[in-house]
Amino acid sequence: MYKLIDGKAISKQIKDELKEKVAGLKAEGVEICLAVIQVGNDPASSVYVGNKKKACEYIGIGSLSYELPEETTEEELLALIEKLNADDKVNGILVQLPLPKHIDEDKVIKTISPKKDVDGFHPMSVGALSIGQPGFVSCTPAGVIQLIKRSGIEIEGKECVVLGRSNIVGKPMSMLLLRENGTVTVCHSRTKDLKEVCRRADILVVAIGRPKMIDASYIKEGATVIDVGIHRDENNKLCGDVDFESAKEVAGAITPVPGGVGPMTIAMLMSNCVESININ
Ligand code: GUN
Repeated sequence: MYKLIDGKAISKQIKDELKEKVAGLKAEGVEICLAVIQVGNDPASSVYVGNKKKACEYIGIGSLSYELPEETTEEELLALIEKLNADDKVNGILVQLPLPKHIDEDKVIKTISPKKDVDGFHPMSVGALSIGQPGFVSCTPAGVIQLIKRSGIEIEGKECVVLGRSNIVGKPMSMLLLRENGTVTVCHSRTKDLKEVCRRADILVVAIGRPKMIDASYIKEGATVIDVGIHRDENNKLCGDVDFESAKEVAGAITPVPGGVGPMTIAMLMSNCVESININ
């Protein structure tokens, strides 16, 4: 019998802890403020940005919203970021990705001050993570660690396999599992004997970006399976990179999609915003 890892409940728990912490800070006269920038009106981005602003409101974090037109130039966006970098009242800056094609995303990410980089995407933040120094950690992999820990699952000494090597999930995920003293293998689309490697995992984190690719045949009996993917299946239903119905027959613990990793990303963004007062 598998244990369902409830990301909705765990993210609520984290948000409630943060809410209490923020109320305590407010009583001491410390206010936290996140600046959220969206360029253009990609519908998915609008939903994400709306949810981030709602989470700020719930926790008691102030939010400044910048909804810029699609035609905004790179110079204009960089100038806004510089202005927010210099503004002492702003603790965190989030530029929703993807950006329109005429804007260089790497340049934008590098312009955000590492002290306000609540997404954890700046090369300084990524570098700090890899050498064990303090800095912001990318929200989705940080959320995966919380899901595992708060489900009472030990990472230390475990065989951890990360499927996917993206800058936002796979790479920081491997660093975080290593920081928790896991034995970490990173796999990707060119990995030979992928199934065999995955079957070694006590903890399998799947972020490969292919709907329902990972079925029971990739999973060791009793393993913890974390599904970072999100897609629409042939019936327009949300699904992950893991074939849940098959995987649950062998997994010891598993995240659903939706309601697994998804809600954790925003909870960890909020956690980074609160953490920012220690970095400023
Ligand atoms: N677009 C999709 N996910 C993210 C995220 O975590 N942060 C930002 N800034 N943009 C995104």
